[in-house]
Amino acid sequence: MNDYKTRMDTYRQEVEAYLNGCFTDASLPQKTVLDAMRYSLLAGGKRIRPVLLLEFCRLCGRDYHTALPFAAAIEMVHTYSLIHDDLPCMDNDDYRRGRLTNHKVFGEAMAVLAGDALLTAAFDTAAHADAEPSTVVKVLGILADAAGEKGMVGGQVLDLEGENANLRADDVYTIHMLKTSKLIEAACCMGAAAGGANDEQMQAARVYAQALGLAFQVRDDMLDVLGDAAKMGKATGMDTNKSTFVSLYGVGECSRIIEQQTARAVDALACFDDRDFLTQTAKMLAFREY
Ligand code: IPE
Ligand code: IPE
Ligand code: MG
Ligand code: MG
Ligand code: MG
Repeated sequence: MNDYKTRMDTYRQEVEAYLNGCFTDASLPQKTVLDAMRYSLLAGGKRIRPVLLLEFCRLCGRDYHTALPFAAAIEMVHTYSLIHDDLPCMDNDDYRRGRLTNHKVFGEAMAVLAGDALLTAAFDTAAHADAEPSTVVKVLGILADAAGEKGMVGGQVLDLEGENANLRADDVYTIHMLKTSKLIEAACCMGAAAGGANDEQMQAARVYAQALGLAFQVRDDMLDVLGDAAKMGKATGMDTNKSTFVSLYGVGECSRIIEQQTARAVDALACFDDRDFLTQTAKMLAFREY
């Protein structure tokens, strides 16, 4: 347990330090957008995607420090997705990560631009990583595929189009796999690529992430109903116009789905001898309260 906590804290601290060094040029006339980017980026998210990325890099055999720019990049894309997700034209939320949402502080136009800039900066940051060019290209490709219309953006499209409709289970499953699992899968696969993964390891990263990602969004749906807004840093009861796993199955069945998917994620790690950290992370996320 102590080993687990030490590793988790170390990864998080190194990610925080890296992110804190970004977008600091106060002399730029367009400084407002840098302030808006840092406001959401440094608001204290769980950093679960960067942590998974760094651990997969380590497990596949390379120094995880070389993957820090990739870890920062996935967190930038994730943070951009949250800023846009919270906009009045999307989920219309006032709180995120324990503070007012980006548009509440900087206005809608600046929040759109801060999201745009974070997305772009993610690719710039990853492109400048000190890694083999072939590794960088692979990592950039994974990130682009997962973030765009075939991935997270695609899921957000279906999520919005599904508002005020009673979607079928298959449709909600597809939305969750796209809007949430895809970026988690990207994190794990980017880490595996950074670590020089073989095909078996890459496939393990993919299956682990898909199962974990589904469990993660089902838990998010549960927390919208059962969670404590103060702990979560975002409002609860916001999903009343959406089809979710809770509206489809009820909370009891959601717990069972999370348990099944967590077991599937853990099983996928069989090819890694040193799998304790990823196993515990999956189990911890299954019961997360924020
Ligand atoms: C929130 O993601 C959005 C979802 C995909 C459910 P996280 O729960 O990882 O949010 P932060 O990064 O910790 O704020
Ligand atoms: C978020 O799904 C998925 C994203 C791509 C940001 P939600 O809309 O359920 O996330 P929260 O509940 O606002 O964090
Ligand atoms: Mg949403
Ligand atoms: Mg939302
Ligand atoms: Mg939610």
